Amino acid sequence: MKSKFNEIELRNITNFKVSDEYRKAIHNLIPGGSHTYSKGDDQFPILSPAAIARGKGSHIWDVDGNEFLDCSMGLTSVSLGHAYGSVLDAVKEELENGVNFQRPSVLEKEMAETFLKLVPGHDMIKFSKNGSIVTTAAVKLARAKTGRNLIAFPVDHPFYSYDDWFIGSTACNKGIPEDISKLSVTFESFNIESLKRMFEQYPNQIACVITEPEKGNYPHLNNSDFKVEAFLKEAIELCHANGALFIADEMVTGFKTDFPGTITKFNLRPDMATWGKGIANGFSFCALTGTKEVMELGGITREGEEKVFLISTTHGGETHGLAAAIATIREYQEKDVIVHNHQIGKKLSDLCKRLVEENELTDYIEVVAADWMPFFVFKDNNRAFSQGYRTLFMQEMIKRGVLFQGVFVPCFSHTEEDVYYFAKAFGESLEIYKEALKGGYEQFLIGNPAKAVFRKIL
Ligand SMILES: Cc1ncc(COP(=O)(O)O)c(C=O)c1O
Repeated sequence: MKSKFNEIELRNITNFKVSDEYRKAIHNLIPGGSHTYSKGDDQFPILSPAAIARGKGSHIWDVDGNEFLDCSMGLTSVSLGHAYGSVLDAVKEELENGVNFQRPSVLEKEMAETFLKLVPGHDMIKFSKNGSIVTTAAVKLARAKTGRNLIAFPVDHPFYSYDDWFIGSTACNKGIPEDISKLSVTFESFNIESLKRMFEQYPNQIACVITEPEKGNYPHLNNSDFKVEAFLKEAIELCHANGALFIADEMVTGFKTDFPGTITKFNLRPDMATWGKGIANGFSFCALTGTKEVMELGGITREGEEKVFLISTTHGGETHGLAAAIATIREYQEKDVIVHNHQIGKKLSDLCKRLVEENELTDYIEVVAADWMPFFVFKDNNRAFSQGYRTLFMQEMIKRGVLFQGVFVPCFSHTEEDVYYFAKAFGESLEIYKEALKGGYEQFLIGNPAKAVFRKIL
């Protein structure tokens, strides 16, 4: 590791002049300053880029011209790499044909057939431009199919949709009528007893359970013998025994844990699955797949029966998004993208674990070694999670040219060199962390710690 490190010269990034101007102006123009709260200024230290000018492969450049190794890859949506050649070529070619017509584009059939071939047991598909639209559509179909009102999801999972049925259950429920919030019920994630208790509490009332099938950032799922597969299989059976549908939300896991996702990795048969981030290499293409029995409710061929208004959006079938998805799927089919990405993830977490051990920081920094998405937990002197220490670590990584927020999402463009670069920056940041533990992160952090996205009060 030492000789590899010697070859690497870390960047020293201190100029955020244009970013500072951007930060000053943007909140008067765009509420939140961005189009997902996860990209907002309150999620980063002040010494950080405020906006990105371009990306290529696994690297991005900010508005001051600073270069960063990218870790989150467009909030996990860019699975092959930024401005990835074959995807761009497919998009450019499709743009020449026009992007939206009075009737569906011929590509819709090709897309449907291509995607459905990947998902065993699912017969029909609907497209959309955002993940929230497909999770909300899945929930609506479950209600229509079962005639029940309650929706269930894990209480400790961060996000399923920006629509009222989910946001009404969070601390940020202003603007959402209580009557709607009451229709969402929760259980502890990956806890079959908790799920059983929930069904007992609301007999014959729950339309569906929606859950992410794996979590890269849960230490107990990734660092122990916990059997995720057994939980998921039992959860599906339990739902069906209680007359409810099971929806696997593969928004994050899709094209990451496996190809296409955890449902094939564990041979699961959910009634519906939702897909988005990563399936079109950052282009806006999401999908709801499901069994014919459920999905056909959204169709128009059941003459004489009641219509369910499923997804109906002007831009849902935009052609270049479909072209991007088809080209992305081809890359996964022709190359060992999953194997590459997992190797990158494993190497990175192995190196970082070693560095944490060598620096005797195992009580303060936890490396959650999910190969598909290594995650890091930063703790204070009391060994409790600390936003202050986490933000300090982000600041130090950013200074060294790594745009890091505590998670690393491997993509096909990440190289071994990137991994060593990350590890060298990580090692140097540990030195600062050690010093900070002696007298507090405040000694070294410029500005305020990052804040939770879901908080009641700004
Ligand atoms: C698990 C999960 N489901 C659904 C969504 C919603 O996707 P989108 O942001 O595209 O609406 C997200 C987004 O973060 C997610 O992580």
